[in-house]
Amino acid sequence: MSEGTAKKEEKPRKFQAIRGTRDLLPPETALWNRVEQTAHEVFSTFGFGEIRLPIFEPTELFARSIGAETDVVSKEMYTFSDPPEAAENLRRFFEAISEVGDKEPISSASNLGEKTTIGEKHLPELYRLQEEWKKSDLASLRPEATASVCRAYIEHSMQHWPQPVKLYYMGPMFRRERPQKGRYRQFYQIGAEVLEREVASGEWRVASREGKEVTSGPPQAGVASKELAKDAAVDAEVIEMVMTFFDRLELQGVQLDINSIGDRNCRPKYVELLRAELLKVKDRLGPDSQRRIETNPLRVLDSKVESEQGIIATLPHIADHLCEACAAHYAAVKHQLEMRGVMYRENWRLVRGLDYYMRTTFEITAKGLGSQNAVCGGGRYDGLVELLGGPPTKGIGFAIGEDRLILSLQESGKEVASGEWRVASKERKGVASGRHGVDVYIAWMGERAHATAIRAAKDLRKAGFSVELPPVELKFGKALGQADKLGAKYALILGDNEVSEGLWTLKTLADGSQQKLTEPQLLDFLRKL
Ligand code: HAM
Repeated sequence: MSEGTAKKEEKPRKFQAIRGTRDLLPPETALWNRVEQTAHEVFSTFGFGEIRLPIFEPTELFARSIGAETDVVSKEMYTFSDPPEAAENLRRFFEAISEVGDKEPISSASNLGEKTTIGEKHLPELYRLQEEWKKSDLASLRPEATASVCRAYIEHSMQHWPQPVKLYYMGPMFRRERPQKGRYRQFYQIGAEVLEREVASGEWRVASREGKEVTSGPPQAGVASKELAKDAAVDAEVIEMVMTFFDRLELQGVQLDINSIGDRNCRPKYVELLRAELLKVKDRLGPDSQRRIETNPLRVLDSKVESEQGIIATLPHIADHLCEACAAHYAAVKHQLEMRGVMYRENWRLVRGLDYYMRTTFEITAKGLGSQNAVCGGGRYDGLVELLGGPPTKGIGFAIGEDRLILSLQESGKEVASGEWRVASKERKGVASGRHGVDVYIAWMGERAHATAIRAAKDLRKAGFSVELPPVELKFGKALGQADKLGAKYALILGDNEVSEGLWTLKTLADGSQQKLTEPQLLDFLRKL
């Protein structure tokens, strides 16, 4: 067989989206846009502004904030090396070494690429240096965005902005999880964060008579409880905002679960108590939970393993072990939610899988999602900004899984609730072709009619209507067939007669009725609908 024939027979590779990633196609993308638009609208009524963040960040940022031992950081991040010049020079240095063989005395670090001195005894140190460089230059695709928001808060000195700083974001996140319904490796989040500079104890500022701020002594009990009440109100408002958003979307079966996981005063003691209790029943637990007794006993409470449920039910509840301040904060959050008419369920097993939380944690589930039914997760993370090298700062926020939100809306048929939402219904015509929402199909015949059709399309589009203009002349019968396939509402028929009379024919495709209209009458008619 000649080379030419072999090439011809070789089938080109058929590419497919990588496992856990997917294309979002029209008409479904209209629903995504609609959901995102609603988020912009609702969040701005709560005083939030949009932040757009990089898709990748230093790996270290995520390891430090989410926690190096968490599943997200230890197993699920997409990490790659992104070396700056120093690492690149080092790489060239090692290349030079390998060219001459490592027995010879070679190259100097200051004279890279030139083969001069540095003996074998220096090599271990050089390898160590290279490892360090490599580590500090790792970047990861973001698995979530709270860490990035905190990084941006520090980078742009947002502690000097009017406080609190309220930001929201939307976009893709990446986690190498086992794909299934509602769980993807590239998924989308809509999230919001409230960050507020903390007034350090011993530095409480009160307004002097002249209206200037002066530094007073340590915080009074009254000030501390005021702060606590304020934090609780912020937590409740953030939760109210996400519930309002879901309400606006008419999301079905929404269930809000809340918990308090204490702070660095009371949680360690509870964790030790939990560990001690878990050790007593270790033999009856599965391998994951057994491992977590050592690494993170709180995560055992998260277990979905059927045989462990009875055991977990007997474990001590954190609510009984909160310190005074955390207990008061939790009570105030519940009171604040009640004042806002937000229904909740207390769930003492809600601990969340990321390390930065303290006090309030919450999760929202919705209908039609199977085992991956958490459509939103969030909580308070005071101290995270400080952990990342910033000033003492309080934080609370949430992230909605947009893929799951859309799935739930589709499952409950809510995407067809009102006019513009009519985008994903199967019975809708035009879905197969990927087209949707055509208002007017212009069926034209003849050169003069073509010019009029182009002008009419321009004017109708300017007025906000979706218009389909066939690029070549079609017989009217065929054109109307096309209009029908695309699910157009109207067909505007433009032939020689219509153009010369200045009276255009508008056909309503649903009932086949026709009317003659002048150009201004047509616009008036369509606008009134
Ligand atoms: P998270 O619980 O890891 O929290 O994620 C929030 C939501 O993102 C989940 O409830 C879920 O709906 C969605 N999600 C997570 N992983 C996947 C996946 N593989 N496929 C589809 N959807 C997924 C956070 O990310 C925190 N940053 C939330 C937060 C903001 N806490 C405070 N501020």
